[in-house]
Amino acid sequence: MSNQQKLGLGGHSFIEALGNDPEASFEEQCQIVAACLDNGIHVIDTTFYQERVALGRVLQELGRRDEAHIIAWNFFQHAGQTDILVSSTRYEAHHIDIMLEELSTNRIDTLVIHRHDNKERLLQEFELVRQWLASGKIKRVALGMVKGDDLLQLDASAPISCVLAPYNAFTREAEAIFIDAKARGYEVIALSPFVRGWKLDEIGEDKAKVADILLRWAVGSELVDLVIVSMRKSEWVATNLATVQRGALSDEEALQVEGWVERLGGK
Ligand SMILES: NC(=O)c1ccc[n+]([C@@H]2O[C@H](COP(=O)([O-])OP(=O)(O)OC[C@H]3O[C@@H](n4cnc5c(N)ncnc54)[C@H](OP(=O)(O)O)[C@@H]3O)[C@@H](O)[C@H]2O)c1
Repeated sequence: MSNQQKLGLGGHSFIEALGNDPEASFEEQCQIVAACLDNGIHVIDTTFYQERVALGRVLQELGRRDEAHIIAWNFFQHAGQTDILVSSTRYEAHHIDIMLEELSTNRIDTLVIHRHDNKERLLQEFELVRQWLASGKIKRVALGMVKGDDLLQLDASAPISCVLAPYNAFTREAEAIFIDAKARGYEVIALSPFVRGWKLDEIGEDKAKVADILLRWAVGSELVDLVIVSMRKSEWVATNLATVQRGALSDEEALQVEGWVERLGGK
């Protein structure tokens, strides 16, 4: 992927829940993805199955699958619960073909295993993803929502090369594990620079300025290789790219962030 930005597009851009604005229309979704691909944002995350279906349709419509790096997580459709967001499911052999069909593709660039504490089950998932890697159905494997000593539990043969976790000015628990991940040579992906957008309202100041500062806080972290943000309006793409261009926070802005965190709680 040439000319890649430090930003990725979040899958919550394609659903109504977990954000501020209403669900984007199909035309808007196409414009958002096209604006991303045109401007060096190639990594597109899909967490819930609804997001895989939506992104698959959009990339087909645009004819631009090969320009996207698709991330996909183990959140599946449950019978009778098609409209709600369900929790993650441990991978089983049949899951990969379902995911590929939902995405209308023949490969997933980064397959995410949602972290959990069952070591034996995790080893079974590692065995499955090794088979999927060998078959070319997935290109690499990440561990998602990492926390605590997750990485210490992995031996050197674990098929992981990337980690993802929420990491923003208000949520910094992942810092220690990101340091460990970097030392292991893993790619580090930070999620939710705006805490689903909710902090933009809670702070109660000029929203555009707040978004600019919070995004620069996340992108400015040397621990982070990529920041995934969801955008339900195509104009956010240019706005957020311009923000990234502005670079590191000034001392005054960094102090302002700590003031917000102190006032609203977090870290
Ligand atoms: N947070 C988690 O626990 C988690 C877990 C797994 C995966 N992820 C991934 O991380 C992605 C990002 O996380 P997130 O969606 O939770 O939160 P987020 O990216 O921090 O916030 C998204 C919200 O910020 C708003 N926004 C984006 N750019 C803006 C701008 N320039 N000015 C004002 N508002 C702006 C969007 O508003 P609009 O609604 O107006 O577009 C959206 O509602 C998800 O989509 C998903 O792919 C997150």
